[in-house]
Amino acid sequence: MPPFSQFDEAGRIRHLITLDGLSCEQVRELLDRAQSYLAPRGSAPIRSHALEGLTIGNIFNEPSTRTRSSFELAGRRLGADVLNLEIQLSSRVKGETVMDTIHTLESMAVDVFVIRDAEPGITQFVAEHVYDHVSVLSAGEAHISHPTQGLLDALTILQYKGGFRDLNIAVVGDVKHSRVARSAYQVFTALGVGELRIVAPTALMPDQDSMPDAKRFNSLEDGIRHCDVVMMLRVQKERMAQAAIPDAHEYHTQWGLTTKRLSLARPDAIVMHPGPMNREVEISSDVADGAQSVIRDQVTNGVAVRMAVLDAVISNRRLRGDRR
Ligand code: NCD
Repeated sequence: MPPFSQFDEAGRIRHLITLDGLSCEQVRELLDRAQSYLAPRGSAPIRSHALEGLTIGNIFNEPSTRTRSSFELAGRRLGADVLNLEIQLSSRVKGETVMDTIHTLESMAVDVFVIRDAEPGITQFVAEHVYDHVSVLSAGEAHISHPTQGLLDALTILQYKGGFRDLNIAVVGDVKHSRVARSAYQVFTALGVGELRIVAPTALMPDQDSMPDAKRFNSLEDGIRHCDVVMMLRVQKERMAQAAIPDAHEYHTQWGLTTKRLSLARPDAIVMHPGPMNREVEISSDVADGAQSVIRDQVTNGVAVRMAVLDAVISNRRLRGDRR
């Protein structure tokens, strides 16, 4: 078998498992497409018939609010049928293998699988074994990858800052266990960010070979000083041993983003968080709800980005000659 590639023979995106390997142009194209799906605030969401007659299967094997709802809305707003498999109520709990579940849904004509799983490699494994016309999109893979989150983060920054070259971006908190941070690193690097900082306590700092081009900071104050963008991360308790979990109050004292600390960043800095937030742990409520917070824009952009990715993989499939 040839080595796995998420691109088709013409180099177009067929699956989206990771942002690693996407060119600046491919990222820009997806962001432009996403931007075209954004309605002015307060007006009805944009709809199209681009995916009419197609079926999307959402298979979430980890909790999710934003990613799952936005993939569902994205599919519906493009005219697709959307199936949400409740894993806890599915035959997976009776011992059915992942691929048997996938093949079962393929037999019901699912065209795109959206998969979130805590096990590394599952999304790629599924992508390697589906029919040629089927696409697989990662909705979050272990601590490794969350490509649509990376894209929506990039889109949000672009809207507020206009570009990446002159920016100084700080990604703060539990970077070690964060798929959000890894995808952010990949997309910001592809877009040519000025300076990328990872800011974390020693225990939550990733290995040296992960995110090699980022500057590392061991203090929140030093890490966010003069930054244009401060991206806060949740402590991923579910991905570490009980003993390694810092006490919430203690964490907030040293690593929580408060109004006072935020004043060290540039006065026009934006504050981001992928959600779910743990208020008064990694971020205080006055910052989360404050004037510099763009957290709700991130959520809005999430729907548009997922519409863009769904639209792109189906357009690429049509370019390969599949007219289904
Ligand atoms: C994140 C995730 O699941 O990776 N949430 C999200 O998709 N918006 C971040 C997290 O769980 O902390």
